[in-house]
Amino acid sequence: MSDVILTIDQGTTSSRTLIVSPAGEILFSAQEEFPQLYPNDGWVEHDPEAIWMTVKTTLMACHDWCVQEGYRPVAIGITNQRETTLVWDRATGDCLYNAIVWQDRRTAAVCRDLAKQMPVATLQAKTGLLHDPYFSATKMSWILDHVEGARDRAEKSELCFGTVDSFLIWRLTGGPGKSAVHATDATNASRTNLYNIRDNRWDEELLDLFNVPASGLPDVHDCVSDFGMCSVFPDSPFGDIPICGVAGDQQAAAIGQLCFTPGDIKSTYGTGCFVILNTGEDCLTSSNKLLSTIAYRINGTTAYALEGSIFIAGAGVQWLRDEMKLIDHAAQTQAICEGLDSNHGVYLVPAFTGLGAPYWEPDVRGGLFGLTRDTGRDHVVRATVESVVYQTHDLFDAMAKDGAHPKSLRVDGGMVANDWMVGHLADVLDLPVERPEILETTAMGAAYLAMIGAGLVDDLDGLTALWTRERLFEPNMDAKTRKSLLDGWADCVRRLLA
Ligand code: G3P
Repeated sequence: MSDVILTIDQGTTSSRTLIVSPAGEILFSAQEEFPQLYPNDGWVEHDPEAIWMTVKTTLMACHDWCVQEGYRPVAIGITNQRETTLVWDRATGDCLYNAIVWQDRRTAAVCRDLAKQMPVATLQAKTGLLHDPYFSATKMSWILDHVEGARDRAEKSELCFGTVDSFLIWRLTGGPGKSAVHATDATNASRTNLYNIRDNRWDEELLDLFNVPASGLPDVHDCVSDFGMCSVFPDSPFGDIPICGVAGDQQAAAIGQLCFTPGDIKSTYGTGCFVILNTGEDCLTSSNKLLSTIAYRINGTTAYALEGSIFIAGAGVQWLRDEMKLIDHAAQTQAICEGLDSNHGVYLVPAFTGLGAPYWEPDVRGGLFGLTRDTGRDHVVRATVESVVYQTHDLFDAMAKDGAHPKSLRVDGGMVANDWMVGHLADVLDLPVERPEILETTAMGAAYLAMIGAGLVDDLDGLTALWTRERLFEPNMDAKTRKSLLDGWADCVRRLLA
């Protein structure tokens, strides 16, 4: 019986489990979507039980496939939508409130107040982050303040708080008669605004500022570590399976793209778009509103990254399909973009949940610009796809101002199946863009961590053979056209923010 890894990818719109061989091949996968809840303007929630059930169902499907096909799952890796926050009862495991999703803006005013109490430079020096509702701390505090009795119960250590990884670890390890593990990894902790990324510890001053009791927080482990035994498979021939690799999804994608050397950079186009530049053991502080974050921590050694976070990428295409009903499938966008000779001056600034890096304007909302009498569906579709490219350029611009000048970019995520979009990205960034053979880099990153944990691979160096390039997109746009497109975009952003 051959050994395999089970890797759970709990994302913003769906949960997936994949079976990965030690050679890095995806043998099987199962996926389930779950509903997005928008109870108020700017609020985004998930039902924790929907998160759990979709994870459990897809995990079971993979387990059963292994039984049927004669493979032995020897380790589990977990990767997850980051910052999304849950609070649950330590005794029963029941959540007190829905998961407050990373896109949720309800604590924008709280963040503005907190900025008066702690200068952003101090917060940045400790956490690498900014005062923005994106991060977990104000979401945790909101639940404690708005669910009756929650704060009292938290003070009595009756509650657990955490990001999605820690919620899943708790549920997966807490089978009958077992004591559930309350743990997270350093990458997820680095997204809370409560974790000091230089000292690698929960920070007392931040816990006070955000009013979060330390007793509810998980233990922070390396990304490769013992996260407990998954015991949810009844009568499994494999027994309990160790969870031994965990990372937030964007860091996992950077690992899946093998960005292990300072200067390596990747951009993932999922719900949002997240650019991660490996800065090695240097924790750089951006002067241009990028984030510093933990790229991974293995054997107690921390690698850092500069990150640019855009909130709407694939979610824009989803909006075209589900709300605007302009397309039936995301796959149509390539032909539509190719079918126009230019954008005809139409721009979409998709600030549906505010703007992330490098603007950090939680209250601004989206805008469509440059409409004329002959603007049609195709222009709006192309403007949506182009918006992702121009936002990526904004991040690269901020990185350049911080002194980082990458030589090429690795891309992944659902949207990069669109050749036109990747070509336009190479043109606008004026940079070669590499697309890998396996686009599932997020899931692969978590699988790689679990492989190291299970001893199937010695260390990160042992993974190098597992990445292959499918296509290189060379830039091919004259400087005048590039400038005119970028000037048009910058003008629209300025008008929106004015
Ligand atoms: O920080 C949010 C991020 O982790 C969400 O990722 O894949 O859902 O866009 P994704």
